[in-house]
Amino acid sequence: LSDTLTTSPAGLGEAVIPHLIDASQLEPSLILTLLRRAEELRQPDQSQAVALRGKIMATLFYEPSTRTRLSFESAMLRLGGQVMGAQDAARASSAAKGESLEDTVRVVGGYADIIVLRHPEIGAAERAARVSDVPLINAGDGAGQHPTQALLDLLTIKLELGRLDNLRIGLVGDLKHGRTVRSLSVLLSHFPGNELVLIAPPELAMGEDVLRQLQGRVRTRQESDLSASAGSLDVLYQTRIQAERFSSREDYERLRGVYVVDEALMRRLPEHAIVLHPLPRLDEIDPGVDTDPRAAYFRQAKNGVYMRMALLQWLLGAG
Ligand code: NCD
Repeated sequence: LSDTLTTSPAGLGEAVIPHLIDASQLEPSLILTLLRRAEELRQPDQSQAVALRGKIMATLFYEPSTRTRLSFESAMLRLGGQVMGAQDAARASSAAKGESLEDTVRVVGGYADIIVLRHPEIGAAERAARVSDVPLINAGDGAGQHPTQALLDLLTIKLELGRLDNLRIGLVGDLKHGRTVRSLSVLLSHFPGNELVLIAPPELAMGEDVLRQLQGRVRTRQESDLSASAGSLDVLYQTRIQAERFSSREDYERLRGVYVVDEALMRRLPEHAIVLHPLPRLDEIDPGVDTDPRAAYFRQAKNGVYMRMALLQWLLGAG
């Protein structure tokens, strides 16, 4: 992983500590290694049950989560490791007494072998990694990055469609605040022949910082009409309008409900295509769509366990 983020200030002569903060750190060769390992880990294999025996993972979650935290915990437990955590860390950890994130991370690094952090501020994971003596994984930093979600999204596309290249992928909804699509678009740009169709209202368009990273590496097209674009997509990646990132409730109410995947929309989507969503969904995917074989979002959530197993093993030097 990129050396700007991997160098520990801990001291001279110490080995570099790998942290995963941003999708741009993930080189294609590492992505392929992790995909291969995750695919192997889907096959039942008892030898994996002790791979991380004696290791402890700490989860520090300053923002709500179901899938990310529990799939990390499941991954660690399935590898024979142990878990401990502060799930409502803003209120239930010493942060409530005013402790800085940096101090918390320094201390928790003394109790655990790896830290998984979710935080409402962009850049929080990078700040934390700078003082962490153990590998630290960004499990979402505000509207910044969510690299492990992007990895499990790739795994899902690979498993569902058999390839990661020459695909037309529609990223739909709140591309401005959606950290999953911000990370995923960067990972998809490594595979040849892909086209990203960025479908968002102008107010929620993909950030310039990400567009700059994609430039010259992947074809991108900005659209605002989902039903007009649906007919040519291989992947429709729907997202939630991120209410918690809006400063005005009015703006949120105006923009929610602009894109809904319902049965009428599914009739426009090709037979071979899939629908993904990082979840939680509100009303942007009609539950009537869930039984359509192209609705892959619950299979996607399950894949998170295998990808996080692969990642934990890799970061802890055990696979
Ligand atoms: C996403 C997140 O937290 O960024 N969920 C997830 O990690 N599976 C998306 C969201 O909250 O909308």
